[in-house]
Amino acid sequence: MTDLTPVTFTATDLDAIAGHEGRVAVIVTPDGKLEQSARRANRLTKGAVQRFVDSEGFAKVKPGQVTSFAWPVGMAAEALDVVCLARNHAVEDARKAGSALGKLRGGKAVLLAADGARRVAEVAFGLVMRDYDFSAHKTDAKDSDTGVTVMCSKPDEAEAAAAPLMAIADGAFMTRDLTNEPANVLTTTEFANRLVEMKNLGLDVEVLEEAELEKLGMRTLLSVGQGSDSPSKVVVMQWNGGETGAAPLALVGKGVVFDTGGISLKPAAGMEDMTMDMGGAGVVAGTMRALAKRKAKANIVGLVGLVENMPSGNATRPGDVVTSMKGDTVEIINTDAEGRLVLCDVMWYAQDRFEPAGMVDLATLTGAIIIGLGHEKAGVFSNNDDFCNAFLKAADTENEGAWRMPLGKAYDEQLKSRIADMKNVGGRPAGSITAAQFLQRFVKEDTPWIHLDIAGVASVKSATALAPAGATGWGVMALNRLVADGYETE
Ligand code: BES
Ligand code: MN
Ligand code: ZN
Repeated sequence: MTDLTPVTFTATDLDAIAGHEGRVAVIVTPDGKLEQSARRANRLTKGAVQRFVDSEGFAKVKPGQVTSFAWPVGMAAEALDVVCLARNHAVEDARKAGSALGKLRGGKAVLLAADGARRVAEVAFGLVMRDYDFSAHKTDAKDSDTGVTVMCSKPDEAEAAAAPLMAIADGAFMTRDLTNEPANVLTTTEFANRLVEMKNLGLDVEVLEEAELEKLGMRTLLSVGQGSDSPSKVVVMQWNGGETGAAPLALVGKGVVFDTGGISLKPAAGMEDMTMDMGGAGVVAGTMRALAKRKAKANIVGLVGLVENMPSGNATRPGDVVTSMKGDTVEIINTDAEGRLVLCDVMWYAQDRFEPAGMVDLATLTGAIIIGLGHEKAGVFSNNDDFCNAFLKAADTENEGAWRMPLGKAYDEQLKSRIADMKNVGGRPAGSITAAQFLQRFVKEDTPWIHLDIAGVASVKSATALAPAGATGWGVMALNRLVADGYETE
């Protein structure tokens, strides 16, 4: 797994600002005040920092922005990074500043000399998140053991504030690694193995193999994987940090390790992007990891359906009819609408076995959601306003884009089948909504449910606020927040 940038916390020693090789970061406030370490850097550079805040250009500098001075006189560092951040900063600004520092770092040791335990923790979090680099398959990747030193007056307090954030970063890195990994490496078996490894964090992990899934009647899930040489699996991860016996929150993820479309084969151009079609399962895994790492006081169960959608002599044909675990029959019109076939069985199983207090499913489900919302926001569908609003608030707090979409009976009409209980596609109009309608047929009336269509946000072609190009880990922060704010007992 990609390691987090190491972060250490030490007591303030202003002389280190002159002697540190690598990069030194100090803070000035938007109204032009130099903090203690910035004053020292200013003295060393014979007033350069003060001239900068006095300059006309400084008026345009936004909170969270970083201005770099290269090879500053009077210092051993190769750059002095001046961070603009208010005393009572917005969390988003602190993370943005950290992200900017992470982008600039280039493997060099960073000395962040600043105060405020919460604030330096958030800056460090932003830095670590942005410093992610998926280099598992680069033969010339350099092992960098240099990290970040946070120098502040209360290092113990800062370290304590950073610990839960580093747990989240660790979870997000797992999500990103899984999502970036190519499908010849991340087979269903390899995916399951990586989840089983999380037993060492105190998670209870079970792998249900094909024979077991067959016994449970998960025929829609199995129909997706039957064309592949990789065996289909469902993995169940339990974190019981809450009250004994309290109904858990269930997280369910689509884990299609590669989506060729099956017999309804996708066009060749861009098909390589379908390595990320397990992104929903990746977020479930990363969130479980973050919750376990920070020992969340809540009961959470994560379930992922791991399959590969391949064409072959055994593959499902368009027109086939299969029976779901629930018992409803599905006419498979398009084998490329496979995600819902995986999810419906896992969702049914989750409710049947755990009677969850709430259920969130995540899936790179439809191309249509990208047409609707682009790469900025995930589509949010729900049968419960309170639950939905709690999630939207959590996503907003963490600056992860999310937008509620409608459900409704009229859309459901599009799923009618002549020969079975339903079809697996509803046609081109409102493709993301009919996909959600399909899923809702497998949600019990009294289960508060949220469906997150993350096709647009799981992986992107250019850097986002906290991630370089590629897998983003979208959702780990929001789901962690949803748990922290709504499910944790004191
Ligand atoms: N995995 C795709 C959705 C997708 C598309 C994710 C682009 C990420 C980027 C999904 O399985 C799929 O193929 N959906 C079809 C559904 C259609 C056949 C009803 C789609 O969106 O075209
Ligand atoms: Mn598909
Ligand atoms: Zn898919």
